[in-house]
Amino acid sequence: MLRARAAAAAALAAAAAAPARHRSPLARPLSTSLRVRDPAQAQPRPAPHPPAHHADQPLQTQAQVNDQIARDADVLLQLYARPNIVFSHGSGAVLFDTQGRRYLDFTAGIAVNALGHADPGVAAVVADQASKLVHLSNLYHHEHAGPLARMIVDGVRAAESACVERGAAERLGAAKVFFCNSGTEANEAAIKFARKFAQYTSGGASKFNILSFENAFHGRTMGALSATPTRKYQEPFVPLLPGFAKARLNDISSLDTLITEDTCAVIVEPLQGEGGIHEAKPEFLAAVRARCDAVGALLIFDEIQCGVGRTGTMFAFEHAGVVPDVVSLAKPLASGLPIGAVIVSERVAACIKPGDHGTTFGGSPFATRVGAHTWRTISSPEFLAAVQRAGVHLRARMLELKDASPLIVDVRGRGLIQGIAFRENVDPQMFVRLARERGVLLVSAGCNTIRLIPPLIVSLEQIDRAAEVFEEVLGIMEGVIGSGKDL
Ligand SMILES: Cc1ncc(COP(=O)(O)O)c(C=O)c1O
Repeated sequence: MLRARAAAAAALAAAAAAPARHRSPLARPLSTSLRVRDPAQAQPRPAPHPPAHHADQPLQTQAQVNDQIARDADVLLQLYARPNIVFSHGSGAVLFDTQGRRYLDFTAGIAVNALGHADPGVAAVVADQASKLVHLSNLYHHEHAGPLARMIVDGVRAAESACVERGAAERLGAAKVFFCNSGTEANEAAIKFARKFAQYTSGGASKFNILSFENAFHGRTMGALSATPTRKYQEPFVPLLPGFAKARLNDISSLDTLITEDTCAVIVEPLQGEGGIHEAKPEFLAAVRARCDAVGALLIFDEIQCGVGRTGTMFAFEHAGVVPDVVSLAKPLASGLPIGAVIVSERVAACIKPGDHGTTFGGSPFATRVGAHTWRTISSPEFLAAVQRAGVHLRARMLELKDASPLIVDVRGRGLIQGIAFRENVDPQMFVRLARERGVLLVSAGCNTIRLIPPLIVSLEQIDRAAEVFEEVLGIMEGVIGSGKDL
């Protein structure tokens, strides 16, 4: 790892006619002779691997790419800030753009492409099912939703058993699954089922409150957004739904006051993704569980980002040993096809009746067949063991970077969802840009954190390559800070 750091140091030292690169504490500005160029103007290294492109597709120039993006902007609602790159194809953990450059993808479509890009198994199942039956609606039965639901139920019961062995009580009984099309829809359904359960069990009109946690992200539709207590997401869309309150993650002392007889559910990500990679402590989740039981509220785990193998187990709650009543899943479940799923305990399922909820697209033969392939692949012990190995390696490499760089204050996460948290005055977007210019794609999380969520098939060598790039980027950023410029 020190090779890339040494290279960056040598380049800086040569440019500044000074000895080795100085990793000075940020409070101590470097002398002007050590100043480095603003990385905005720094020349990125060429792509780390030979370019690759589809032979039938001519490479584009940057001007052509810019033109295409400008034309698209005439007709696409501008909701996203995106770099001027157009991607054409991928393979495993690697993506290629239309200019022939290749990138290591440490975003995986925001924790979606668990099996990587263009997985041959997924491609075969997609092609086969597309030639048979894509969509049917829920007017009729088909062959594929049941088997996927069975796998998920078996998986969640196995996770529950592991928790029960560690002292948790059984909750799920004959659990059942509802399929929808996205994460936010899964949480929307979970919220509706929780309110229905409260009406059904308590009969009272006042038991409708839902508690969520600071930095949580549960989605963008009105119910899920009401449970996402971050100002930038909520403020443009007020008034939100009534009955939502927030607490601080891992603050056990607030639970007695905030979870009351009028609470119908508490929704929590066992490991927060979007909000900055914050893990709920096992003792906190156990306290939430106990308080939910005391007042008759449901405990909903949102495992849309952290579930389906990402932490090294099929369900993230296995690490805490606390069993929920409801779990929502989505992102990786069908290898990139839109899908969401809500698993409800037997008690909750008993109060849901035909007509209570529904969806046109949810649970299609196409999505659920690909989902079954995905689940079968990820849940194999060998696959999960490889995720665990890769997660340990990724974390170790990031901790090395933290030890070596004054810009990093924390490395958080589990398995293949890790966060690098920076000092307050460091802009993570600069890190994202500099890494992208050197061939690694990243996404931020929360206000000062970079999220590392590669495909679950990422290799140890690819992790090493990413670590080298991060080291070089840190070297550049430290140089800029040393020069007294803001990052
Ligand atoms: C934990 C969690 N819940 C819900 C969602 C919303 O999922 P979707 O974007 O598929 O609606 C996300 C998306 O990032 C998420 O990370």
